[in-house]
Amino acid sequence: MKVIVCKDYNEVAEKSAALIIKEMIINDSLKIGLATGSSPIGLYKNLIAAYNSNLISFRNVITFNLDEYVGIDRKHPQSYYSFMYENLFKHIDIKEKNINIPNNDLSRMDELAAEYEGKLLGNQRDIQVLGIGKNGHIGFNEPGTALSSETFIIELDEQTRIDNSRFFRSLDEVPKYAITMGIKNIMYAKKIIMIATGKAKAKIINEAINGEIREEVPASILQLHPDLIVVLDEEAASEIENLDIINL
Ligand code: F6R
Repeated sequence: MKVIVCKDYNEVAEKSAALIIKEMIINDSLKIGLATGSSPIGLYKNLIAAYNSNLISFRNVITFNLDEYVGIDRKHPQSYYSFMYENLFKHIDIKEKNINIPNNDLSRMDELAAEYEGKLLGNQRDIQVLGIGKNGHIGFNEPGTALSSETFIIELDEQTRIDNSRFFRSLDEVPKYAITMGIKNIMYAKKIIMIATGKAKAKIINEAINGEIREEVPASILQLHPDLIVVLDEEAASEIENLDIINL
């Protein structure tokens, strides 16, 4: 594991984007796993800027999103489908057919997880971008999820719904269910870049990095990944106990 501590959100965005840009320059056909939420928005802005400067192209890139709400339409402004188009896809030259976001069509509920799982199995991600929930979730793998989980439909934690209610008019509007890659799918990526910023993430970051590997802290399993880079701002890194040793 490598932990990069940055001054603030903007530097986290620049450094994490630079890691991806470097790989894209070497290989223009990367398979990239993407996250939504506040953490990667700056990273995506930097990718868009690199695209606008003709440094990189997404023409041959294939993307796989971690998760999607179930119970709201894909066209809903807060769906992860809408988020990805607003914050990245509409600004770059990615091909529609190369975008994979879990389908959340309620009428085909029983088939959705197996369908996405099939896509993931045949397409190992070169890089997986991750955020982390205050409760240690990665994707929507909430505490208690089996560390061997594959794509599934999950009932969201109350804490997660409260955290995400900032994007909706009220808590009632926040979906109760989501479809998510499982922890096993996340671990299958060749490289993982996890980003976190702000004091509210400090405690869980230390637990994820230094704590016992356990289902109650899903992100703790990342300690076992052979190529994990954690990019943090000073606040999110402020409770890490043995940073010097980790980065040896
Ligand atoms: C989003 C996702 C979640 C978020 C996490 C942190 O696709 O899978 O695990 O990464 O909830 O969200 P933010 O970045 O908004 O704090």
